[in-house]
Amino acid sequence: MPAIYSTAPGKIILCGEHAVVYGKPAIALPVNQVWTKTAVFAKPGSVDGEIHIIAPGVGLDTNLSSLSRQNPLQRTITLVKEELHLNNLPACEIRITTSIPIGAGLGSSAAVTVSLARALAKFLGHPLPNETINRIAYEVERIHHGTPSGIDNTVITLGAPILFQKGAQVEPLEILKGFTLMIADSGFTSATVEMVDGVRIRREQNQPKYDHLFEEIAKVTLQVYDALCHGDILQSGSFLSENHLLLREIGVSTPLLDEMVSSALSAGASGAKLSGGGGGGNVLAVVAADKIDRVSAAFLACGARNIITTTIQGKIGAVDE
Ligand code: PMV
Repeated sequence: MPAIYSTAPGKIILCGEHAVVYGKPAIALPVNQVWTKTAVFAKPGSVDGEIHIIAPGVGLDTNLSSLSRQNPLQRTITLVKEELHLNNLPACEIRITTSIPIGAGLGSSAAVTVSLARALAKFLGHPLPNETINRIAYEVERIHHGTPSGIDNTVITLGAPILFQKGAQVEPLEILKGFTLMIADSGFTSATVEMVDGVRIRREQNQPKYDHLFEEIAKVTLQVYDALCHGDILQSGSFLSENHLLLREIGVSTPLLDEMVSSALSAGASGAKLSGGGGGGNVLAVVAADKIDRVSAAFLACGARNIITTTIQGKIGAVDE
């Protein structure tokens, strides 16, 4: 029996992060330059329930039975089994390979869950719909992030640009005019759960200030949404830079992230901001084609470790069910 595969893309939050945890809208995009791939191989002749997992990215080469119940891979497999009303699985080997850096705000944890859940369900002969995959991925994100908004698992499940708001119907984005997005890795990782916790604690100390800032972030996000759907984000990049200033005010930027943003803008980017939890991770910039080299040089001069340059268009991302 040939191996069964499933691949999930990385993701980036274009705007609205943190405020999205408090019910405001945010925009996320899949990033197909990075991905996680899960392959499931049958092991005929082995005893049912014998599952071997290999994930070189996290140094894992072990039997599933050795992983705790709260291990994200164990939990994903349990949730797939429960969904399919199975007590046991046929013997198999699961290999997870990824090019998504961990802790860099590119959705590594959600991509692993989505690709693993899809590949395993397909292997078992019962591919699961996106809604179920998304629900499973959200449950597993809770192990990683405590109180996730759900934006990461949703954009990675759908593999398409989205406007996301907790509790609302997800809106796929039809982007009118494609644009170039540069994503520069600051080289510093940070734990999203800690950044979200920090915002929660500061908000408890001054709720009116934080709720006002979240309102402002929501306004900017809707302006970006409008530019994406009806205009040209390259002309409206200043909304993204405004979003960065608001993120700085809620205390999730760092001197390095601020420097990367202002260097990108000085080098000609139309807009730039930190992306995701902050405290490290990535800075993104919307850039006209003739400015890519200059902005790239500016990021590298700040010490960026890696730069992804990607073209964002209407319907991007491959939904691999
Ligand atoms: O660090 P990331 O890219 O996974 O972003 C998390 C986005 C937050 O809004 C900070 C948290 C959330 O759950 O939405």
